[in-house]
Amino acid sequence: MIPDDVVEEVRARADIVGVIGEFVQLKKAGKEFRGLSPFKKEKTPSFYVIPAKAFFHDFSSGESGDVFSFLMKHQGMSFVDAVKHVGARSGVDVREVRKGQGRDDPWRPYYEASAHANAFFQERLWEWEGGEGARDYLEGRGIGREAGERFGLGFAPDEWGAFREAASVHGLDEGILLELGLVKKSEKGREPYDAFRNRIVFPIESVTGRVLAFGGRLLGKEGKGAPKYLNSPESPIFHKGEVLYGLSWARNHIRRDASVMVVEGFMDVVSLAAVGIRNVVAPLGTSLTESHARLLKRYTTQVRLLFDSDPAGLRATFRAADTLLGQGLHASVVTLPDGEDPDSVARSGGADAVRGFVAQAVDVLDRKIAILEERGWFDSIDKTRRALDRLLPTLRAARDARVRDLYVTRVAELTGVQRDTLEAELREQAAVRGPRTRRIRRAGKLPAHQGLGPERMLMLLLVKRRDMIEKAGERLGPSDLEDAFLRAIFEGLVEKPELTVLPEGTMPEAVPHFERLMADPEVPESPERVLEETASRLQFRAINRRLDALAAELAEAAGTQEQLRLLRDIDSLNKEKRGLPVEDWSRSAWKAVARTP
Ligand code: UTP
Ligand code: MN
Repeated sequence: MIPDDVVEEVRARADIVGVIGEFVQLKKAGKEFRGLSPFKKEKTPSFYVIPAKAFFHDFSSGESGDVFSFLMKHQGMSFVDAVKHVGARSGVDVREVRKGQGRDDPWRPYYEASAHANAFFQERLWEWEGGEGARDYLEGRGIGREAGERFGLGFAPDEWGAFREAASVHGLDEGILLELGLVKKSEKGREPYDAFRNRIVFPIESVTGRVLAFGGRLLGKEGKGAPKYLNSPESPIFHKGEVLYGLSWARNHIRRDASVMVVEGFMDVVSLAAVGIRNVVAPLGTSLTESHARLLKRYTTQVRLLFDSDPAGLRATFRAADTLLGQGLHASVVTLPDGEDPDSVARSGGADAVRGFVAQAVDVLDRKIAILEERGWFDSIDKTRRALDRLLPTLRAARDARVRDLYVTRVAELTGVQRDTLEAELREQAAVRGPRTRRIRRAGKLPAHQGLGPERMLMLLLVKRRDMIEKAGERLGPSDLEDAFLRAIFEGLVEKPELTVLPEGTMPEAVPHFERLMADPEVPESPERVLEETASRLQFRAINRRLDALAAELAEAAGTQEQLRLLRDIDSLNKEKRGLPVEDWSRSAWKAVARTP
């Protein structure tokens, strides 16, 4: 037999339209779906599926029932097989057990403790007198009881032991509560205390609706070291890189709408649902991982990113988009007005306002292009080359052949670079990294500080003055750096300016270089000036390289149509070069900063 709670879970999670739709062609008709009777021949459709009631009704044969009875009647399945069939499609693990035997899930006590905690927090929010402040807070943010209950919201009272006491009355194992991060041990070895205090609690569910962990938002203002949001730590049942908040509620809506919206926070998910937008999920205060992308791919390939529009938000957006593209998903970017998030837009303008912005979603590559255009990155040949540097990672990330093809075409048109050249560049990239690294590695020792070249000087500046990275990223691309290690560090910093450890996947040889820069006690004075001068120097060098290449091409192109274009390019590059303030180089101030160790 299958335990009742599992049957219930499968029934609750089932996408009845999807399951029946495998056998009957269904068309949406208002809130229902309609098709020709699968039980009796007919010409006008009189077979209805009503997802809101998880029910089907066939007027021509009189058959009706839930998703299981459909499969039993139509496919002749047994009840157990029907539950297994639907369970497999809903991601619910259906295992039969013999009567009287417990399910052999070693984590069962963890799930039970989480479910218990969830029930406790909910009771505190809705039934308890002391929960009034929390109820008012939610009400004030547009979340009434219906939306609140749908997401299982709760309240952790402003007490040190309320949950712990309730849990001990229920005989829950304290070791497990500690592992789940629901209670914490104090340093002085006194009694463990409640981890969530004075917070609105958001249960974090698995795809199948089991409570795995919690997020808690401080009621009222932050302060005294208490962060605004607190998440459960990683535990045997919770790996935050693999869980998306809201997915258990959103997934059928994602399927039906054939798209998903990815937002930043708990509040965004709940508040959008409160205005009727339900195909929404959020990563849990981390960046979007490959596991997240694969999880989403089970439901749709169209992903809309609704992150902050400030520089950090944009970086997160582009990073997320590359991850999605890497899994063959399609990523577009929704831009909200400055300082707004989906929650605030929903609150002030309702679902229509949100939908208005979503309708203007722009493919991630086009968004990148638009930003580069706004900043004048296509104004000159040299800048265009660097703009290309910025676009290539997105082209490279695109796993889906059709998307990639479109991207290459788009960038070729935009930059005037031939398709073939772009494709060769994409192919080459991976191959180039290896040999270059090896050559430099053989050179051995880290260069000493004397004669600090512009690359190292620049990187020292960026490591010490993270506020300069944004600016540096606008002037330079990775390919402006010749040293492979510094280039890797530069890429890392532009992605994530606050970086203190190089991300996984960075070439390991770069690590000691980064550490050495970090440990260097020197902080460059007049950072603006150091940036200006090092960047100009590097641009100057890059233009020279490009001029050399053009000269070689010109020699080949004598007497062809190409000649004219090449001459024009050479001319404008020379102009760009003259515009750079590198004449003062030898007398410049940066030398004063570049001292000996
Ligand atoms: P935000 O700071 O953008 O909060 O964090 P918000 O969603 O706008 O929330 P309200 O409107 O102020 O209530 C977004 C997400 O970042 C994570 C949480 O997952 C949060 O939902 N976060 C934020 C943390 O983990 N810790 C924090 O201290 C803050
Ligand atoms: Mn907010």
